[in-house]
Amino acid sequence: MNKYLVIGNPIDHSLSPKLHNYWFRENNIDALYEKKQIREADIKQIILDIRNGKIEGINVTVPFKKSVIPFIDKLEIPEKIQSVNTIYREKTIKGSNQIVGRNTDILGFKYSLERIKYNVKGKTVLILGAGGVTPSIIYALEEMNPSNIMLSNRTKKKAEDLKKLFPQIELIEWGDTENFDMIINTTSLGLKENDKLPINYDKIGSGKFFYDVIYNPKKTNFLVEAEKRGHQIENGKMMFVYQAQEAFRLFTIKPDVGEGLLPSINKKVLQLLDND
Ligand code: ATR
Repeated sequence: MNKYLVIGNPIDHSLSPKLHNYWFRENNIDALYEKKQIREADIKQIILDIRNGKIEGINVTVPFKKSVIPFIDKLEIPEKIQSVNTIYREKTIKGSNQIVGRNTDILGFKYSLERIKYNVKGKTVLILGAGGVTPSIIYALEEMNPSNIMLSNRTKKKAEDLKKLFPQIELIEWGDTENFDMIINTTSLGLKENDKLPINYDKIGSGKFFYDVIYNPKKTNFLVEAEKRGHQIENGKMMFVYQAQEAFRLFTIKPDVGEGLLPSINKKVLQLLDND
């Protein structure tokens, strides 16, 4: 039986096994997808296991999306991103095995907006946070031609580092909200029930779009406050599902789901996540 893994630390809450095992069953693929909490020192052996065929592929989550990069032979990610979440084995023309690293978060975010037909073109976007997922979000947004991307992070240095990679972004003070059409929370604030972003929701006009990368809880305080004031809201669930489905496509190369086309998501998949 072919083996797949998601690695991270912590990993207990990962819903990836649920999705991938469902897709394996649906496609009659004899494979098992498990989660594994690892230490950074374990990465080398896991990649070796992929190379040797003990494992077919892995997904990578916090905090290893960058630290896996030195072990990859063929890095198929935009250079600025430095974040790999999908790794698998491929044969070279000469017949040897090579390890491929990809990033499906970018596409996951893009598809999540396409699905709800939110058009970023010409919009002003404010990003909160400068963590591991933020570069993928900025990259995806820039491809969608917003008029302006602003970013604020508690730790200024991390925001400044991102500006070096993406010179077009405009840095603003943590807690400021300026004028925006869309605001995206990419911080981890909201994972815990009492987490609150330092935002004055009453200072924000009407008809904005609030997007939270967090999907568990389904409605962070950020989204609750936004919804109370009549703004459009979206959590990170569809981004998660689309990034997983794209990883599944890469693992199994399903010809009916091509990159670039918004793939359909089986309703049962969404129910799987709702049960948690
Ligand atoms: P990652 O591993 O994805 O980088 P992280 O470093 O834990 O995750 O944090 C992701 C984001 O959440 C960062 O922008 C972080 O802000 P800092 O750069 O200032 O650390 C933000 N974040 C986490 N806890 C926060 C808090 N209590 N207040 C403000 N921002 C917070």
